Amino acid sequence: MHGDELKWVEDAIRTNWVSTVGANVDAIEKLLSERIGVEYAVALSSGTSTLHLATKLAAERLYGRDCQGSRSLRGRKVFCSDVTFNASVNPVAYEGGEAVFVDSERDTWNMSPEALEKAFELYPDVKLAVITHLYGVPGKMEELKAICDAHDALIVEDAAESLGAKYLFGDRWVETGSLGDYSCVSFNGNKIVTGSRGGMFLTNSKEDADKVRKWSTQSREDAPWYQHEEVGYNYRMSNIVAGVIRGQLPYLNEHIEKKRAIWERYEEGFADLPVKMNPWNRQKSLPNFWLSCVTIDEDAMAPQVRGEYDYRYKSKRGKCSPQEILDVFAAFNIEGRPIWKPMHMQPIHASHAFIAAADGLDVGADVFRRGLCLPSDNKMTPEAQDRVIEIVRRCFR
Ligand SMILES: Cc1ncc(COP(=O)(O)O)c(C=O)c1O
Repeated sequence: MHGDELKWVEDAIRTNWVSTVGANVDAIEKLLSERIGVEYAVALSSGTSTLHLATKLAAERLYGRDCQGSRSLRGRKVFCSDVTFNASVNPVAYEGGEAVFVDSERDTWNMSPEALEKAFELYPDVKLAVITHLYGVPGKMEELKAICDAHDALIVEDAAESLGAKYLFGDRWVETGSLGDYSCVSFNGNKIVTGSRGGMFLTNSKEDADKVRKWSTQSREDAPWYQHEEVGYNYRMSNIVAGVIRGQLPYLNEHIEKKRAIWERYEEGFADLPVKMNPWNRQKSLPNFWLSCVTIDEDAMAPQVRGEYDYRYKSKRGKCSPQEILDVFAAFNIEGRPIWKPMHMQPIHASHAFIAAADGLDVGADVFRRGLCLPSDNKMTPEAQDRVIEIVRRCFR
């Protein structure tokens, strides 16, 4: 927090705009659409609600309006990033569809174009892909978009974690959040810009932006009384939450710089250890470095097994495992996390298809097995980060 957040929250209260309309909501929609380079931005209550309405819009555009109004993907499959947060894929289930998980590639840990090609070979009728930029690192959008275009498929872009990250598309640097047919950002409490919660729907279509405004405010028709022809949602952003975001947004670049410095300090601190930082393409992208992560080299992995709820590992000289490092962190009151557990390994998705680039390959499971998320908060001091680095170093002694 910087102080400006309080100013805009106070402004909302002083002027009595304590509602889902007001100057803060208008301001952040304008700021976001300008920053991301899209025509329209609609502020919603969360990234999840944003992804829901984006997925529903895509489904109605592809398959028409469902008479129930809430099962627009009934009987349809949707290709989804496999290593992502479950909020990306839940909207497919809300709309009655079935997620088919597409494996990650090793260069950015995002959806693999080769695996997506394979998915279209196996399921040529699929017309929608939900693609996440994991940990603030842009995926291979040029290739992914070309494949989707070749199959007349739409893209819902999940830029929840990657606000401010840039990608070289052709010869133009563009922001993530402008690369889907419909794109989504999150302002959840852990994101690079937060409002405590909140999300932003981004599109170049006025008609679609208007539709999302309508759906998100209970689908009221233009009539003197409450008139309804479609299912509605209470998904609009509060003007109070928007005030926090309005205060934060001018600091986005500063936050990215701090996150980048943290990522680079880890990279330098781990240079002689058998670990690799989470990868990104230096020619084609500028991540926002939201989370710094590492994977342990295979030959330095100590034995580790994970069940659904618990784990075991063995300590070995010169070797270590993510769970052991996380336990050591916890002993020093340092918070780390496992890599997001891939969707195809989640019990809820046990019956869903998972498509990898080649038989027997499972990049997501491998990154989950050997990787962990490091403390990445931009309030972390260099001294605090040095302690984290030293603790990781000792784990490999
Ligand atoms: C990749 C991804 N998608 C979607 C979401 C959902 O956003 P929200 O928490 O704002 O609903 C999150 C994070 O929370 C996320 O990390």
